Amino acid sequence: MSAGASPRPFPYNPPMEEDVARILIHREEIERRLADMAEEIAQTYHRDEEGLTLIPVLAGSIIFLADLMRKLPLKMKIGLVSVSAYPGRTTRPTAPKTVIELTGDLAGRHVLIIDDILDTGRTLRKVREMVLQREPASVRTAVLLRKPSKAPPDVSADFVGFDIEDEFVVGCGLDYDDHYRNYPHIGVLRPEIM
Ligand code: XMP
Repeated sequence: MSAGASPRPFPYNPPMEEDVARILIHREEIERRLADMAEEIAQTYHRDEEGLTLIPVLAGSIIFLADLMRKLPLKMKIGLVSVSAYPGRTTRPTAPKTVIELTGDLAGRHVLIIDDILDTGRTLRKVREMVLQREPASVRTAVLLRKPSKAPPDVSADFVGFDIEDEFVVGCGLDYDDHYRNYPHIGVLRPEIM
């Protein structure tokens, strides 16, 4: 702020906590589970010579990706894909649209798709199909959250952080209208916010 400029009234950007009705999963619990997941994933891939490529589904997976990959003691590459299913202010999914095409040469490599949540499964079904067209050595999926009551039988995840009830959640990369991705816990918003 330049000298003499008047300070903005406080609070000009209210804390996210005020919008959250309930914390579903605390950061500490998430950290503990991620350490176990990283071990499971490392055990699965540590003998593979073909090489591992992570495919994070943007943008919801960014926090989960960063947390998880720092715990993985394996050499790996990253490809990217962006798919949008909840555009703007909605908690009802639309047909997932590809926003950024899948990047990276996946032929003959072990691919681990990383996503924030397996909800209706439409996004992961679409991304998996895109990956399979590139003839990888194998395809698996890791998600931070899964809603077992909604995930269809043909779309499964190999590594799952937490199973949750069917309610709209934010935090750890999950958003509402592109906000709350940086909320450190998994939480449920106050109904009047949505
Ligand atoms: P599905 O499995 O329904 O999920 O294709 C697609 C994407 O939608 C987002 N998603 C959510 N985002 N709270 C959110 O903030 C939720 O409860 C939720 N459910 C789904 C998420 O980005 C997922 O990758």
